[in-house]
Amino acid sequence: MRLKDKVAIVTGAASGIGKEIAKTFVREGARVVIADLNQKAADAAAGELGDTRKALGLVMDVTNEQQVEAGVARTVEQFGKIDVLVSNAGIQIVAIWMVRFSPPAPCCSACTSRAPAEALSIWDRCTRRRHRF
Ligand SMILES: NC(=O)c1ccc[n+]([C@@H]2O[C@H](COP(=O)([O-])OP(=O)(O)OC[C@H]3O[C@@H](n4cnc5c(N)ncnc54)[C@H](O)[C@@H]3O)[C@@H](O)[C@H]2O)c1
Repeated sequence: MRLKDKVAIVTGAASGIGKEIAKTFVREGARVVIADLNQKAADAAAGELGDTRKALGLVMDVTNEQQVEAGVARTVEQFGKIDVLVSNAGIQIVAIWMVRFSPPAPCCSACTSRAPAEALSIWDRCTRRRHRF
């Protein structure tokens, strides 16, 4: 019960890693706000964790300042305070990276022989000077 009576907002907690974090927090005694894009999904995840004394589903797009402020206000209204913010929601853009590292034709030896970060910048140069893909 290391988080006993702590109040936490976990963003992106309707699924995936955020949901598992929220579960762990509740198991450790915290009260948790499941903040996610979709109210229905947030409610469903909160429902799995217990009643509204333990977990509350809230619609909160973390890119929308008004929704964040409203969510924070609602959390304080429901639980009286906020102790922890788990800023889990986010996006990871891998497509461009994957395309860059999967050239349609063999690149020059300089590209393949370098460490990834360095190769990326070399490929950037190659795409302009040699291969043009
Ligand atoms: N799963 C992995 O292997 C991995 C690896 C590295 C980083 N991450 C990062 O960890 C975070 C969670 O990953 P996951 O695998 O649990 O993802 P997931 O897609 O399973 O869950 C993400 C949750 O965040 C919510 N969400 C998305 N945009 C949001 C927004 N603007 N506001 C509020 N909620 C939003 C989604 O509705 C969803 O419920 C992401 O930022 C991801 O990029 C994941």
